[in-house]
Amino acid sequence: MPTAARIHNVADARRLARRALPRAIFDYIDGGAEDEVTMAENERAFREIALRPRMMTKIDHPRLDTTVLGTPVALPVLLGPCGLIQLMHGDGALGTARAARRAGTVSVLSTVAGTPPEALASEPGPRWFQLYAADRDVADRLMSRASASGFEGLVVTVDTPALGNRERDVRNGVAGSLKLDLRSAIRLGPQFLARPGWSLRMLRGGMKLLGRAPGTPVTDGGTEPDSPEGAPGGPVNALASAEQVVMLASPFTRDDIAWIRGRWPGPLVVKGVLSGNDALVAADLGADAVVVSNHGGRQLEGAPATMRVLAEVVDALRGRTEVLVDSGVRRGSDVIKALATGARAVMIGRPFLYGLAAAGEAGVERILEVFSDEMTRTLSLLGCPGVTDLDRSWLRGG
Ligand SMILES: Cc1cc2nc3c(=O)[nH]c(=O)nc-3n(C[C@H](O)[C@H](O)[C@H](O)COP(=O)(O)O)c2cc1C
Repeated sequence: MPTAARIHNVADARRLARRALPRAIFDYIDGGAEDEVTMAENERAFREIALRPRMMTKIDHPRLDTTVLGTPVALPVLLGPCGLIQLMHGDGALGTARAARRAGTVSVLSTVAGTPPEALASEPGPRWFQLYAADRDVADRLMSRASASGFEGLVVTVDTPALGNRERDVRNGVAGSLKLDLRSAIRLGPQFLARPGWSLRMLRGGMKLLGRAPGTPVTDGGTEPDSPEGAPGGPVNALASAEQVVMLASPFTRDDIAWIRGRWPGPLVVKGVLSGNDALVAADLGADAVVVSNHGGRQLEGAPATMRVLAEVVDALRGRTEVLVDSGVRRGSDVIKALATGARAVMIGRPFLYGLAAAGEAGVERILEVFSDEMTRTLSLLGCPGVTDLDRSWLRGG
């Protein structure tokens, strides 16, 4: 049976990903900051919300289609920007973008995906680019490249003024300043050998993308010098490189957002707001949408679960911008709860990364199919004709 067919829900994909990946890579995906309290709370907050069905109605074909910033989507589940995506499977960012397009949704390429925007230039959209930059020169160059490569939307992530303290990565020796030196090679070597399928795929296809191809975002703007060790491109090296850029931090200020707005003609999305006030600031600066996000609990430990602040953000904005939410979305019913609270769509991170790690592009496609099936069933059981009919009256206490 193909691996993707063994994925019946996100938890299945997670189990299969754990089996497919070297431990340090699985932990990089799966882990969060410090005690992982915010990460756990994200999922708990969804479970605490109850739905309020309307029985004695018959819904034949609940509709999942809507629009996000004017783009029609068949499913309001977007694939969020994720770093080092090439490390999860050789299908990487390209496979992810293709799976998203087939499902009729948007994929977002991270600055530190390990794949340059140019590599996706000939892929039909819709595609958005997520910006990290240590300074305006780097930001300017990345925006030009993303625009020339046909990315329509720009997602500016504002919750990474410093890298979160991900202790699993620290323990595995892959946090921040890791370099491909003898010690780390010796430490991780046995993990790679224990996952020969992953290692072979990386050797066959992934490495050329992970290598130091000229002009990859990771090296753009000279933010990250060539590895002092002169080590060849490879999984460990890519991990170090991308993390280093983030380590250098992406401390966008309000002035920076206004400056970016002046340069990016397409839709601008500010990702990482957790209060009504910050959402209003983003709207004042010209954002077309905000993403209520705590980075999947990977950045500020102690940040609130996103579902505990979504209503505050929606109410503060009063429709001035669209609102998206991510962090902890694991079931179709979670998407329904987010939309009923007032989100236009959700983003997912780990769920599609687990699918990708487990079964490549087919795994990502399968995860989106699972979300679609779960949402369809939830709407039927709720007695709700479609996602655009959802509001707080479908929630208990709503
Ligand atoms: C492995 C991994 C790498 C990520 N890299 C980025 C990134 O490069 N840029 C970014 O804005 N968010 C990044 N995120 C955060 C996701 O875009 C998203 O906010 C988060 O994963 C949502 O939470 P979830 O994983 O619980 O769905 C990353 C998340 C993961 C799990």
